[in-house]
Amino acid sequence: MSQHLTVVEHPLVQHKLTLMREEKTSTAVFRQLLREISQLLAYEVTSGLAMTTKTITTPMQDMEAPVLDGKKLALISILRAGNGLLDGVLELIPSARVGFVGLYRDEETLEPVQYYFKVPTELEDRLVIAVDPMLATGNSSVAAIDLLKKAGAKNIRFLCLLAAPEGVERMKEAHPDVPIVTASLDERLNDKGYIVPGLGDAGDRMFGTK
Ligand code: URA
Repeated sequence: MSQHLTVVEHPLVQHKLTLMREEKTSTAVFRQLLREISQLLAYEVTSGLAMTTKTITTPMQDMEAPVLDGKKLALISILRAGNGLLDGVLELIPSARVGFVGLYRDEETLEPVQYYFKVPTELEDRLVIAVDPMLATGNSSVAAIDLLKKAGAKNIRFLCLLAAPEGVERMKEAHPDVPIVTASLDERLNDKGYIVPGLGDAGDRMFGTK
């Protein structure tokens, strides 16, 4: 992927996103839509993967057929909302290896602090796709990618549902080598760090918490 930011304009993605944004959409429907949209976004974020061929036999004849090359890719969920995106992506790429990064915000320093980190081995040889539905300030995404790079990851892509311009800028400064794929670049952040127009708190909406 060469572009730093890709907004997936596909009509199905945009239609489903509109339904997800609506306040009246129930938790069950929100979850189902997230599952569906994640698969469409997964299609985009995996574009250009390295390929090789293998010899197969069709009912008609032998052929050299294309297959993915290299190690299984690694999907990294940034907890907790990342898990909602992860489920859909895993349906499309069931053999992917999976990791989790847990961060919370220190109320005094406002800096992200790690509370959980478990990732697949040999990260350096895998395409690593970090998933988090909301790229808001970018603080936790940047910190999660710092940790993934420390663990050896060299080829990282970031998948989110919505991005704020502030978060995209922050990521571009800190990690210009990490392409971002999203369904929408929204207007801005509000004074509480929420994306507007946005969809509210993604974790609360997918898990039915408040
Ligand atoms: N996290 C969310 O869940 N929603 C936002 O708008 C911003 C960050």
